[in-house]
Amino acid sequence: MADTLSAMPENTPTQRETAHPAAQPEPGRHDRPVAPGLIWSDALNLSLPVMDRTHEEFVELLGQVQQAEDADLLWRWQELVAHTQAHFDQEDRWMLATGFAPGSCHITQHAVVLKVLKEGLEQGHQGQLWPIRQMAHELTLWFPHHAQTMDAGLALHLKSVGHDAGTGAVSRPEALPQEMISGCGGACGDRVTDEPAVDAH
Ligand SMILES: [Fe+2]
Ligand SMILES: [Fe+2]
Repeated sequence: MADTLSAMPENTPTQRETAHPAAQPEPGRHDRPVAPGLIWSDALNLSLPVMDRTHEEFVELLGQVQQAEDADLLWRWQELVAHTQAHFDQEDRWMLATGFAPGSCHITQHAVVLKVLKEGLEQGHQGQLWPIRQMAHELTLWFPHHAQTMDAGLALHLKSVGHDAGTGAVSRPEALPQEMISGCGGACGDRVTDEPAVDAH
């Protein structure tokens, strides 16, 4: 699987490999248990405790997937997919409550990644385990990038508006964006406007 997750724009997963369920892993590719490819570190800490705790759990579950023997791989992957669903749903709720447009790129990237991970689960149920191992490897590359760009931007935004993850309250509503945010990444500054899209050529 040629960088299933990392080859997409902004490291969003692609379905290029999963679209060929009959394919076999190349020799030496990710088809057996390995040591965790991603370890939690301060570099991943965004100083937003609820988000950081969720991310640390994600890194832990991902490591367990990578280390799993074949007999345990499917349920480990299922556990990671369920956790990731809750993780992304949580961030999507925060975004929608604080001025992000439903189709903003961070929300869209979550949806695309989750779709691919669920396709891996389907393939696992059909007896193919290597796509899961490949996806797990690619998640170790995708996640730090996502956390340090899109999630970091979201964390800054949530702090700027005084969002309380526990209650959902916003203590500085005056800091909420005047127009819905359609962008993401480190900027979080692209705005939805009424202007027609310009065809760039
Ligand atoms: Fe996240
Ligand atoms: Fe995110």
